[in-house]
Amino acid sequence: MTQAPNPAAAVLSQDELKTLVGQAALKFVVPGEIVGVGTGSTVNKFIDALATIKDQIEGAVSSSVASTARLQALGIAVFDCNEVAELSVYIDGADEIDASGYMVKGGGAALTREKIVAAQSRRFVCIADESKLVPVLGKFPLPVEVIPMATQRLKRQFEGMGAQVTLRLKDAAPLVTDNGQHILDITGLQITDPLTFETQVSQWPGVVTVGVFAFQKAQVCLLGSASGVKTLNF
Ligand code: A5P
Repeated sequence: MTQAPNPAAAVLSQDELKTLVGQAALKFVVPGEIVGVGTGSTVNKFIDALATIKDQIEGAVSSSVASTARLQALGIAVFDCNEVAELSVYIDGADEIDASGYMVKGGGAALTREKIVAAQSRRFVCIADESKLVPVLGKFPLPVEVIPMATQRLKRQFEGMGAQVTLRLKDAAPLVTDNGQHILDITGLQITDPLTFETQVSQWPGVVTVGVFAFQKAQVCLLGSASGVKTLNF
């Protein structure tokens, strides 16, 4: 692990830490190329930083309607996934990340497109504040994007594992993702074997995407902490 000292960071707020890691991620952007861009409040800081070097890149592939809108508003060209064969790097946040680079994602409901863009990228650089680093995945409610007609059966399947299941709501109605589906948030699990868990749940009929990113894990994590930006390599 390498660590860039930053004494001033001792007084930085969580929002300022997000800004710090968003800016630090610029060094992973390959000049002249298209960069994969995730979703969330930390990535929003990265997008703002990316705008300062927009003339040095060809554009971005985005993982959500929200990130696309932010990129385009800042004058960054957004390409469809299908127009691009492979990306050098994908930069995104996480809800949890462990010491192997396995993550829980989807707190912003963008997990399906995030996993698609990550799968198309050679390197996943996760940007997060230190609160996201956990010994075992599962404390943050695990998002699972599901086809609505399967909701009740999937709820029973997770409950059979000893979990509690909540259908995510927005304005008192089920939240609808960018893909027109719903999100279940799962609590009460300790995900000690992320690869096996992702393999198993991904096969349940009606699951679009499970928010465990084990096969699309991070290779690098830039972690904002009181003592500066730590770089974790996995
Ligand atoms: C979006 O669906 C998520 O996967 C985000 O990457 C994750 O929730 C982190 O978001 P914040 O940067 O807002 O914490």
